[in-house]
Amino acid sequence: MAKKPISKNNQQNKAQKETKTTPPTTTSTKPQTEQAPPKKTTPQKPTLQKPKEKVLDNLSILKTSPYIQQKRESKANQKPNSLKELFEQNLLSQKEERLEIVLTGQYERALDLMFEADASNLYPILVGPPGIGKTTLCRYYAQSRAEITGNDSFEWITFDESTKPAHLIGSFNPATTIQKGFSFEAFNSGPLIKAMLNGGLFLANEVNRATEYTQNSLLEPLEERTLSVPHIGRVKASSGFFFIGAMNPSELVGTHRLGEALKDRFNVWIELDYPDKKTEMKIIEHNNPYYKVEESILEKIYLIINRTRTHHQIQTPASLRSGIALARLTGVAQKRNASEEPNKILRNLASNVLYGAIQTKPGVKTKDVINNIIAQVLGSI
Ligand SMILES: Nc1ncnc2c1ncn2[C@@H]1O[C@H](COP(=O)(O)OP(=O)(O)O)[C@@H](O)[C@H]1O
Ligand SMILES: [Mg+2]
Repeated sequence: MAKKPISKNNQQNKAQKETKTTPPTTTSTKPQTEQAPPKKTTPQKPTLQKPKEKVLDNLSILKTSPYIQQKRESKANQKPNSLKELFEQNLLSQKEERLEIVLTGQYERALDLMFEADASNLYPILVGPPGIGKTTLCRYYAQSRAEITGNDSFEWITFDESTKPAHLIGSFNPATTIQKGFSFEAFNSGPLIKAMLNGGLFLANEVNRATEYTQNSLLEPLEERTLSVPHIGRVKASSGFFFIGAMNPSELVGTHRLGEALKDRFNVWIELDYPDKKTEMKIIEHNNPYYKVEESILEKIYLIINRTRTHHQIQTPASLRSGIALARLTGVAQKRNASEEPNKILRNLASNVLYGAIQTKPGVKTKDVINNIIAQVLGSI
C-alpha cells in the first residue's frame, strides 16, 4: 500500500522534470526526437498533468475529509507494525464509544417508554421494519442507562436460526471440564447470564429469528428473573437486570413467529416506523461525516427513498441506510466533480444505491421501478 504513492510521485517528479526541460524551446526537443524517436516523452505530458488539476482521486478526497482528519490528528505519528498492536490500539471500551443519535419524533417517545418500562420492571420490545433504528436506539438506551445508574453492563445477541440456548447461557470448556468436572471454573458464561448477574441490560435483537426452542430459553429469565444452568444450579438476577427485545414485524420473510409464551412476557410494545421527513433528513445528515450535501439535495434524497415506501410495485422498500449511503456518495461525487449538475449526480448514483436495497413485487423489473422513481422525483431527462 505504502509503495504505490511513492512510485506515483516518482513518476510525477520525473514527468515534471521532463516537462520543465522540454517546453522552453522547441529546439531542445528536436535533438531528443531525432536521437530516440520511439521515446514518447511529449505525448505523455498531457495525460500525466491533467488528472492532477481536474479530477480528484478518491484517496485524496478521503485524506482531506473532515472526518478522517479528526481521526488522524489523534493518531498522528503512530505506526503500528503488528496486528496485535493494531488490535490493542483499536480496542473499544464502552465508555469511549459514545454514541450520539437523533432523538426527535418517534425516537424520543420510544426512549421515554423504555425508561418507564425499566422503572416499572416491565419488558419492552421494539417492532419495526429493518433499518429504522431499533438497534441504534437500544444501544443509546444502554448508554443513557449506564450514565444514570453507573452500571454499564450491556450484553446483546442478534438471533438467527442457528442461535442455541448455550449461546445465551454459556457452555462448559471441554478441557477444563475434564480436569475439574462440571464446575463454575469450567463454565464460560454467556451474555444473558452475565447481564443477569451484573444487574445489567440484555438486548435480544431480532428475537423472532430464533427458533421456538431457543426462544423458550428466555421464558424463565423473563418470568422468574432466574436462569437454570445445567450442572451448576439456578441463579437469580441481581437487581437492575433489564431485558429489551427487538424484531422485524412477523409478516416479513425470514422471521419465525414470536412464540405465544414469549410474546406474553413482553408487556410494552413499541412500534417504530419510517420516521417523518424532518427526522429522517436529520438522521441522514447526522450519519454523513464526510462531505455534506446542501438542503435541497438532501430533500431530494429523502423524496427518492420515501417514494420506495409508497410505490405499488415495491415489496421491500429502502431503509434509512440507503438515504445515508446516497448522501455520502453524492457529497463525495460533488467534491470530485464540482462542475457537474447536482441533479445529474444524484440521478446517476440513485440506482447504484437502490438496486440491492429494494425488492420489487414478482414480475417487476427493479431497474424499471428505480427509473420510474427517479423520473418522478428528479423529472425525466
Ligand atoms: N435516531 C437515529 N439517529 C441517528 N442515526 C440513526 C438513528 N436511527 C437509525 N440511525 C441510523 O440508521 C441505520 C440503521 O439503524 P439500525 O439501528 O441498524 O436499524 P434496525 O436495527 O432497525 O435495522 C444506522 O446506520 C444508524 O446509524
Ligand atoms: Mg437491527
